[in-house]
Amino acid sequence: MSPWKKKPAPTPVCCIRPILPCIAATLMCISVFFLFLQHSPHLPHHPVPVTIQASCDVSRGKWVRSEQPPRFRYNYTCPFHRNSWNCVKNRRKGIEEINSWTWVPEGCGSVGREEGILGFDPAMFLRRMKGKNIGFIGDSLNENFVVAFLCSLREGDGGAKKTKRRNSWRGGYFPKFNVTVGYHRSVLLAKYQWQPANESKHSGDTDLKGIYRVDIDVPSDDWINATTFYDVLVFNTGHWWGFDKFPKETPLVFFRDGKAIIPALGLLNGFQLVLSSMVQYIEREVPRKTMKFWRTQSPRHFHGGDWNQNGSCLFKKPLKEDQLDAWFEPANNGINKEARVLNKLIWNALQGTDIKLLDLTHLSEFRADAHPALWLGREDALSIWGQDCLHWCLPGLPDTWVDILAAQIIQQLDKGFEV
Ligand SMILES: *[C@@H]1O[C@H](CO)[C@@H](O)[C@H](O)[C@H]1NC(C)=O
Ligand SMILES: *[C@@H]1O[C@H](CO)[C@@H](O)[C@H](O)[C@H]1NC(C)=O
Ligand SMILES: *[C@@H]1O[C@H](CO)[C@@H](O)[C@H](O)[C@H]1NC(C)=O
Ligand SMILES: *[C@@H]1O[C@H](CO)[C@@H](O)[C@H](O)[C@H]1NC(C)=O
Ligand SMILES: *[C@@H]1O[C@H](CO)[C@@H](O)[C@H](O)[C@H]1NC(C)=O
Repeated sequence: MSPWKKKPAPTPVCCIRPILPCIAATLMCISVFFLFLQHSPHLPHHPVPVTIQASCDVSRGKWVRSEQPPRFRYNYTCPFHRNSWNCVKNRRKGIEEINSWTWVPEGCGSVGREEGILGFDPAMFLRRMKGKNIGFIGDSLNENFVVAFLCSLREGDGGAKKTKRRNSWRGGYFPKFNVTVGYHRSVLLAKYQWQPANESKHSGDTDLKGIYRVDIDVPSDDWINATTFYDVLVFNTGHWWGFDKFPKETPLVFFRDGKAIIPALGLLNGFQLVLSSMVQYIEREVPRKTMKFWRTQSPRHFHGGDWNQNGSCLFKKPLKEDQLDAWFEPANNGINKEARVLNKLIWNALQGTDIKLLDLTHLSEFRADAHPALWLGREDALSIWGQDCLHWCLPGLPDTWVDILAAQIIQQLDKGFEV
């Protein structure tokens, strides 16, 4: 019997008590010692590293608008772009506005400044990471993240090349610093396979076209043999766990030890089981010296209907803090409640592990204005998919995710973390 099966089964979704906000706050509380200023309108072109000796929570704060025109961190020619998120190329209306807001974490004051501003010096970061590799594993929201990361890093090494190592879906190599960044597409993290329904069987499920078999205890082929290659790993899974991806005619059916779990699990119970079993796999199989992060859910901003009901996100400004609960609090049962619902289960699954939670949800909840919306780079995309109020424009919000991830990696290195 494998050691990771000894943990008690997770509490079913229905029995989870509301997580105390303080637990989340503790997990999210992050001390940032080194922040690199950039982006700020009054700063020179080259970022100035500033030491911040303050303990602060980078996941809490506010968006501050700069009056100056934004300086994009990278342009539309970055070879790592994915067309549908390349909002400058797709002439997304308001792309300048989107990039004129800066996330200012609260209580992160710096010497001679009222407020700390996150920023990122790509060359300095790459120098610190010399000879090391960074992997992202998960769904398209992690892909959105990695594209921002690759394009940001490229500003520190113009010789960056596309590469697909270790079964990665996309990635880049930075030759000046011998750094590889890879993205492994694994939407559920666990292995899953399509199995068509058997015609001969008259089971009564006449609508059933087949099932997606999910082996909750087996990582998907995309990353199972990649983990030892990386010194830093960033995991996520989330927005595939819904009935629009897996309706009742083609449901997810969960297997453990090669056998179907009976009685069959609902989506959220399956999500919990997969989370706990993937977390245990990571704890067991990924080397201890590897820095591990799990990023929280990216919120959606469909307004006036879901993605397939003409939902839209043509907002000109970020939401106000007092609007967020109406949009996202599960008790309000809005169409975008998914992020907070899944986050609670993610927080639970990470308790007591050495995987660091990267809380990107709250700061992203404000940014209803920052999705590609109808500017998708393809004429027919809108009629097929509706507006994209799920992924994010690049350059844009995910660049702030990059700042936070980079600051955390540097912080761990400064603490003597040997990668
Ligand atoms: C885009 O950025 C690169 C640097 O990353 C620069 O060399 C290039 O000239 C820029 N192109 C345009 C059209 O601004
Ligand atoms: C580049 O980094 C890898 C580790 O990722 C190492 O094995 C290799 O020797 C390095 N190559 C050079 C030329 O430094
Ligand atoms: C159909 O039958 C095959 C062979 O017995 C089996 O492996 C597969 O899981 C069945 N499909 C479904 C949807 O039950
Ligand atoms: C992973 O590595 C094992 C052992 O080398 C090998 O048997 C297996 O086929 C590999 N799996 C994939 C998906 O590459
Ligand atoms: C979406 O908008 C189109 C065009 O206005 C309309 O024909 C269609 O019925 C709408 N769909 C829904 C689900 O509201």
